[in-house]
Amino acid sequence: MPTTVLVGLQWGDEGKGKIIDFLTERSDLVVRFQGGNNAGHTVEIGKEQFILHLIPSGILRQGTLNVIANGVVVNPLALCHEIDELQRRGVDVLQRLRLSSRCHLLFTYHGMMDSFREAQLGEGKIGTTKRGIGPAYADKASRVGIRACVLRDVARFETLFRARAEFYNHLFTNAEVGTLEVENEWEKLRQAASVLAPLVEDTALLVNRAAAAGKSILMEGAQGTWLDVDFGTYPFVTSSNTIAGAACTGTGLAPHRIDRVTGVVKAYTTRVGSGPFPTELSDATGDALRRRGSEYGATTGRPRRCGWFDAVATRYAAMLNGADGAALTKLDVLDGFESVRICTAYELDGRVVTDMPTDGEEIARVRPRYEEMPGWLADTTSATTYEDLPEAARAYIRRLMELTGMRLEIVSVGPRRDQTFSVGD
Ligand code: IMP
Repeated sequence: MPTTVLVGLQWGDEGKGKIIDFLTERSDLVVRFQGGNNAGHTVEIGKEQFILHLIPSGILRQGTLNVIANGVVVNPLALCHEIDELQRRGVDVLQRLRLSSRCHLLFTYHGMMDSFREAQLGEGKIGTTKRGIGPAYADKASRVGIRACVLRDVARFETLFRARAEFYNHLFTNAEVGTLEVENEWEKLRQAASVLAPLVEDTALLVNRAAAAGKSILMEGAQGTWLDVDFGTYPFVTSSNTIAGAACTGTGLAPHRIDRVTGVVKAYTTRVGSGPFPTELSDATGDALRRRGSEYGATTGRPRRCGWFDAVATRYAAMLNGADGAALTKLDVLDGFESVRICTAYELDGRVVTDMPTDGEEIARVRPRYEEMPGWLADTTSATTYEDLPEAARAYIRRLMELTGMRLEIVSVGPRRDQTFSVGD
């Protein structure tokens, strides 16, 4: 059975949670490999909606084992809260979740530092989720992080936590911002450690043994390619590598063990937070996309910025990820448009550009060149096969695949589990 990596090819919020839920029917193991509780993966099952932040979406399918691997930064309090919520709704979590002993832990002081840095940046702020993701990865790279393995040794955990909390409180005092109530926080963490410690193990061994035994493994990416810390629209990015390559470093599975990469793309584009967005529409069409697509952040509730499909950015993203297959989501949101547009090139300082520039300042200045296609003005929400789609919708999809160099694998036409279908050869 194959090992598949599933990643977002835009700015996040492509609908990965839903596609992962669809694919987990055939998966033994679902593995998160980067990011933290900045992610918000929405899955609708029947009348119920679940938003997962740290726990892999596979938890909603019986029979899958779910792994939070070493590349993820884990807030123990947020993870305990998510576990409690799911257990309360009848999902059996503790038996089917494993936490890598090498995960770096994220604490309240990281969130406070995130908010402080954003406030310092003023107009130039990144628009982070304020979940402390950047400061937690910074501590990891600075070699002062605290890893999940210490959850099994509460005395050592307490010593390490108090030392780091003291360090941060010292900075906060000098910056004249509120400090962390260490006693109160430690009490919550001590309780969290007792819940999480039994889940902690060397997940690099677990994942490699599963691969060797021929199990089907799904690696669940969070955020999207243009938020990648190396390749994204820096500095308006997240602090992890979000591309498929991170599935190796974030889990300990070697590159040649990965069989395929599926890229998730929305039928149009959205972005939440600050930073360049070439096809952004600050007009009634953008508002219509937001309204029809319910484009509000699953983690922060912020309205998402909306625009047409950007084939320049997506083709580059497909290359970075080696995405051969595409999962196209939210096609139904375009149902009511008389015509639809695709950005096929940018204009930059009088030149035509067909590859994404490196410099965010240049990306902010490009002007998109559009190709217009007729809309389909028909309801696609009950389609269950590719052939059910109106010809104009199929023509639109064919053009997206042609421009981005991918093969269509999956289409999603609504939020429900039964509104997703595979596409044959
Ligand atoms: P951070 O990851 O909280 O540091 O935020 C950095 C940037 O990534 C901001 O623009 C966020 O809005 C964006 N971001 C982080 N996580 C997600 C996500 O899951 N979906 C979409 N955007 C995200």
